[in-house]
Order: sequence, then C-alpha cells, then structure tokens
Amino acid sequence: MTAARVFVVEDEAMIAMELCDRLRALGYDVLGHAASGDRALREIAEHTPDLVLMDINLTGPLSGLDVARGLRERQLDAAIVFLTAFSGDEKVREATGLEAAGYLVKPFDERELHATLQVAHFKRAADRERQQRLEERHALEARLGRAQRDESLGRMAGALAHTFNNAFSVILGLVELARNSVGQPAQCAADLDDAVAEIGRSAEIGRALRRYAGGEVVQTRCLELGKLCREATAIFETLLPEGVRLAMSVAPEPTFVHADALLVREALAQLVTNAGEAMAGRQGEVAVQVGVVSSNGVPGGRTWPAEWTAGDRTWAYVAVRDAGSGIAETDVNRIFDPFFSTKFFGRGLGLALLLSTVRSLDGGVSVDTGPTGSTFSMLLPLAAPGAEPAEGS
Ligand SMILES: Nc1ncnc2c1ncn2[C@@H]1O[C@H](COP(=O)(O)OP(=O)(O)OP(=O)(O)O)[C@@H](O)[C@H]1O
Ligand SMILES: [Mg+2]
Repeated sequence: MTAARVFVVEDEAMIAMELCDRLRALGYDVLGHAASGDRALREIAEHTPDLVLMDINLTGPLSGLDVARGLRERQLDAAIVFLTAFSGDEKVREATGLEAAGYLVKPFDERELHATLQVAHFKRAADRERQQRLEERHALEARLGRAQRDESLGRMAGALAHTFNNAFSVILGLVELARNSVGQPAQCAADLDDAVAEIGRSAEIGRALRRYAGGEVVQTRCLELGKLCREATAIFETLLPEGVRLAMSVAPEPTFVHADALLVREALAQLVTNAGEAMAGRQGEVAVQVGVVSSNGVPGGRTWPAEWTAGDRTWAYVAVRDAGSGIAETDVNRIFDPFFSTKFFGRGLGLALLLSTVRSLDGGVSVDTGPTGSTFSMLLPLAAPGAEPAEGS
C-alpha cells in the first residue's frame, strides 16, 4: 500500500506543526493542515486525503464534528480520526455515531498515533474495495439484464413476424384460389371460408397477445378450484387424444381462491392439452390433482415467474401430470416464452397465457419434468378462511 495521505485539522498552531512533523517522520504524506472548520472543509475537498486527523474542539463556529458532517454531505470518504482531550466526552460518543474511523485521547504517543492511523487506513481501503466490487457487480447485473431483455424482445419480434407472415401467406393463397375459381361458386365459397377461418385464427392470436401484455381487465371473485375442476372434467376429457384418460382427484379441504373462473379454466385447459399432446400415440392417464399445500410442500423442480417464491403461506394448487417423454433440458427455460413451440402446428402461446394469468393473481407455476413425464402445478394464494364461493363458481 502506498503512503497514506493525511490532512490535519487542529486550531493550536504549535500542536498542528508538531503533529505534522511526527506524521512525516512516520512515513505519512502530509498534505497540509487547517486551523478552522471552514478552511478544513475547503482544503479537504481540494486535496481529497485518505485520512483526516481532526481535533473535535475547534475555535470558530464549526467544531470537528460539524466538519465531519460536512465531509459526509459532500460525499468525501476520507477516514476521520478524532482528537479529544477527554475519553468520556459526550462528543466522542457523537463522533462514533458519525462512523469515525477512530479517536485518540490527548496526550498520545507515537505508537498509538501510528497504530490508530494504520487501522483507519486499512479499514478505508477494504471499504473502498468492497464498494468498488459492489458497483462492478451492479453494473454487470444491469448489463446482463439489458442483454436478456434485448434477446427476448428480439426473439419475440422475430416469432411475431414469422407467425403473422405465415398467416398472411395462407390468407393470400386462399384468396388467390378463390379468385381463380369464381366460375365454380362452391369451390370459391369454400376457399373464402378457409380464408375467413385463418383471419379468425390470426385475430385470436392478436387477442391472446393483448391479454399476455396485460391489456385486459381481469374480474376476480372468490371461487373454489376443486369445484371448478370437477365441473370442467367433461371439457378436459375432450382435450385428450384417444387412449389417454383423465384421472381427477380433489382433496376434501376447500380450495378457495380469488380469480377469474374463465381464465383459470382456460389456463388449466392449456395444461391438460399439453399433457395430452405429450402422450400422443401412448396409452395411459393424465392426472389432475387439486388440493392445498403449505410453502414447504410446494412441489420441487423449477418455478415461474422468475421472481415468484412460495414464501410463508398456504397455496391452493392444481397439478397436471402426464406420462409423456418430458421436456428437453435445453428447452425447459423457454417453454413460457411467447411463441416457443416444439410442435408442428403449435402457436407457443398456451403456457405464456397461463403464466400471465397466474402472475396477475400473485401465483406461481412449478414444473417437474423427466424422462417419465412432466407435472405442471398451478399455485394460487389460498383465500382467507371463511371466504364463501360466489354463486356458480
Ligand atoms: N406436458 C408437457 N410435456 C412436454 N413438453 C411440454 C409440455 N407442456 C409444454 N411443453 C413444451 O412447451 C412448449 C410450449 O407450450 P405451449 O403450450 O406454450 O405451446 P404449444 O403447446 O406448443 O402451442 P399452443 O399455443 O397451441 O398451446 C411446447 O411446444 C412443448 O415443447
Ligand atoms: Mg400448448
């Protein structure tokens, strides 16, 4: 470490001179001294020393403590060692509150002076290094966050362009076919119907994206997840391929949540559809389980959204388990990205929409996947005990 740069604030000229000499003899780089608070503030700001040796009692309107406060306000980070005549001084206690690097009670010998200044110097160097590392880490995190945002924005813009370009090509092709078959009214009408259906599909994607972006107002009310799932069983069954059956099990305890029934049903339908698609060509069952779980019982695996934690509370959950081949390790971090799909006709919007619904309800999704299948668990905050389900929920 290079010689510490010291500034002395002492109103008695003789003592100040002697101190400066002793410091120089000890190898310090003495930048100067000031006899008054005003001058000390000015000169310390100009010289930016590492250490300030400061008498607490100065003649004039500013005490050593006032100077220390002034330095903090100006964000000058010199380590301050106070000089005082009394160890029990009230002002010494005040100085400690000002994060003084140390204090010396007059009279002091050279060894005490040197040791106190050395400790203050090392401590300041360590603090600075810690601060610098912290700043570097923050800068790195900010850069990383920007890069990730740019990457996901770029990916989404590319996927959007791809989706709508495809749709427009199909629509153009169908309209072209219709024009060429004006002489065959039935064929022309069929082509136009297909074009209208494709336009409808694109409009549906547009609506889904608006919901994903939070453009729709969600009406929440108290509903029971178990009841909702039991009532939706018949619909869920229609979403599964042949040979795959639905096994619904609802725990006896009530699972009240505040949510929009339509959105929750749709989110669960996405999970059941995905589970069925993962089992296409196989026999077996998709298990839907509804229940209540405390934070430490939240299923393992990964959770979304990134900022969500189970915290210290109770959750109502619906878990959808399939016996498909699981999700590839390289894909699993992308499955909630809009337009991410590994399916030929997939839009890649099912899980993105589910996540936007769950996020708006302060809930989370946990995913456990492996070669024998996947379990997606939707977790919503359990409503306060005594909350009654609204009619028809
Ligand atoms: N249960 C599952 N088993 C295996 N992979 C799954 C499962 N659920 C989701 N995935 C993967 O996550 C991807 C994204 O799912 P998501 O539901 O968002 O879109 P998609 O099913 O491809 O299209 P769609 O918008 O029509 O639902 C899927 O393409 C698939 O790769
Ligand atoms: Mg899907």
